[in-house]
Amino acid sequence: MKIIESYFHILNQIKLITNDKIESEAETSLIFSSRLFQEYFGQRLEKEEIFGKFSDYDLEGNVLTILNSIIRKRSNGIPIQYILDEAWFYGYSFHVYKNDSIKTLIPRNETEFIVEKFIEHSNRKPKNISVIDIGTGSCCIPISIILNSSNINSFDAIDPHTFEIAKKNISSYKLEGRINLYNIGIEGILSTLNKKYDIITANLPYIPEDKKIKELNFEPYEALYAKDDGLHYIKMLIGILPVIIKKNGIALIEIDPNHTDYLNDLKNFNVSIFKDLNNLDRIAEIKIR
Ligand SMILES: C[S@@+](CC[C@H](N)C(=O)[O-])C[C@H]1O[C@@H](n2cnc3c(N)ncnc32)[C@H](O)[C@@H]1O
Repeated sequence: MKIIESYFHILNQIKLITNDKIESEAETSLIFSSRLFQEYFGQRLEKEEIFGKFSDYDLEGNVLTILNSIIRKRSNGIPIQYILDEAWFYGYSFHVYKNDSIKTLIPRNETEFIVEKFIEHSNRKPKNISVIDIGTGSCCIPISIILNSSNINSFDAIDPHTFEIAKKNISSYKLEGRINLYNIGIEGILSTLNKKYDIITANLPYIPEDKKIKELNFEPYEALYAKDDGLHYIKMLIGILPVIIKKNGIALIEIDPNHTDYLNDLKNFNVSIFKDLNNLDRIAEIKIR
C-alpha cells in the first residue's frame, strides 16, 4: 500500500472511532510523525511529506502491521498517546506509557500556561534560582522550563507514582544533572527536602472524587482525582507554602475553575488567577503577603 493510501485509510478508521474530523486528522498526523512509526519506517513523517515526496512510496508489511495494531488498540478506546507512548507538550515529545500500571497523565495544552508564566517570572529573577515541581507526572513541566531558561540553579521534581517514566524523559533530554527527581508525595516534602524555593510549580490532582469523567477512564486515577471537592492536595500545598517558599517567591499552580473562590479567600497570600484559552480560570499565581 502506498503511504498516501495508508494515510487516508488510517484517517477514515480513526474518524469512525472518534466521530470527530479535526481530532481524527490530528491523531493521524501524530501516528505518522511518531517515534513508533519511525522505529518501523526509519523516520517520522510530517503531513507535507506524506502528501509530497513520500506519497507514492510503498509501505512494507511490518509497517502496515504496526499501523493496523495501532488502529485495533484505538478502537478499544485507548488514547493515541498511550498507544504510541508519546505525547507532545510545549513542542517536546514525552514518554507517557509503559504498561497499564505504569503510565502518567497525558500532558494537556492548558498546562503549558504554567511554563509560559514561569518564563515570564524567572526573567525578572536573579540568576541561580531554585525550583520545585510538585506532582511532576511525565516531568513535562521541569523539562520544558529547563530547555527554555538560563537562570535555574536547582530543579527538584517530585511524584510518588511516576518515577520510572519521569526518569526516562529526563534521561531522553540528558537532563540527569539538572533535575533532581524524588519518588515522594507532597506529604514528604518537609521531611525529605529541607529547602526553600524561588518558584514552585504544581499541577496536582484536582478533579472532585465524585465527579468522575468517563473520557478519562484510561488515565491514572491518582493523577486526576482528589478528596475535599478536589482541593485535598491544593490545601496541603497552601499549608506548607510559607515553609518552602522564599521571600518574594511565587507558586504557579493549575486549578479547577471551581477553586477560584477558595483561593481568593485565602488570608496571608496574594492570589492572581489567569484564564485558559477556553476562558476558564486555570492558573493561580500565589505569593506570601
Ligand atoms: C494532574 S497530574 C499532572 C502531571 C504533570 N505535572 C502534568 O502536568 O502533566 C497530577 C500528578 O500528581 C501526582 N500525585 C498524586 N498524588 C500525589 C501526591 N500525594 N503528591 C505529589 N504528587 C501526587 C500524580 O501521580 C500525577 O502525576
